[in-house]
Amino acid sequence: MSNNLLEVKNLKKSFGGIQAVNINELKFNKHQLTSIIGPNGAGKTTFFDLISGFQTSDSGEIFLNDINITNSHPYKIARMGMIRTFQLTKVFDRMTVLENLMFSGSSVSNDSLVKSIIKTKRQRNYENDLKDKSFEVMEELNISHMANAYARELSGGQKKLLELARSIINNPDTLLLDEPLAGVNPKLAEDLLGLIQKLASNGISILMVEHNIEAVMKISERIVVLSEGSLIADGSPGEIRNDKNVIEAYLGKSND
Ligand SMILES: Nc1ncnc2c1ncn2[C@@H]1O[C@H](COP(=O)(O)OP(=O)(O)OP(=O)(O)O)[C@@H](O)[C@H]1O
Ligand SMILES: [Mg+2]
Repeated sequence: MSNNLLEVKNLKKSFGGIQAVNINELKFNKHQLTSIIGPNGAGKTTFFDLISGFQTSDSGEIFLNDINITNSHPYKIARMGMIRTFQLTKVFDRMTVLENLMFSGSSVSNDSLVKSIIKTKRQRNYENDLKDKSFEVMEELNISHMANAYARELSGGQKKLLELARSIINNPDTLLLDEPLAGVNPKLAEDLLGLIQKLASNGISILMVEHNIEAVMKISERIVVLSEGSLIADGSPGEIRNDKNVIEAYLGKSND
């Protein structure tokens, strides 16, 4: 089996006059933790939107596990094992943590709505399994004590944890994390980083967009840098730290 996880070719997306994404060629290998960084508006979230099917591209091609997924629906891509989190968390405020997890765990399954309304014995077993699995995930993330708390009662950081929990309940092969540490207090950020590393060491391929450069430098095997929609650097943390284009993109070009 090939080691290709994701490949994009000539991928373009613009909004009005703004070229949000314009990437000639970019490949990711399986079982790597890669960070995608770049200044605000660089196109990082749009890149995630395109590869996860939440936006259609203007042109170009996207391959997941060597299968062409260009402009496929998000649920199809999720069923292929690539699951994303959102920069602004999308947890359900009126549901408890447990309900949020059970809902996410069922959304990628093949069970039809009719089957979930008519509660057969099989369905009840399915629900119990889902509940067990939810508790397993909560234990892994140290949030079991929050099972019955409503999502709206959680802090921003706890919501980020719940969002991560919701994404791993479906046993993803690949996780796309959009700013998992944003708005999270330093202690929880440290815990989240440890969790992300643990998921990576369990073999999950991870692409992470993150502004916390210290965290990015610490855990990434590879760093890809976008600026104004384009790829401007790609390398190890050590290489990226000293890259002239990267420093310029963040600090702006000097006048001389
Ligand atoms: N739905 C949209 N409609 C119009 N413009 C958009 C839309 N989504 C993104 N853009 C624009 O595309 C560009 C890239 O935005 P994107 O959100 O992908 O950047 P980003 O790198 O994720 O930034 P940040 O670090 O602030 O999250 C920006 O100029 C943004 O204003
Ligand atoms: Mg973004």
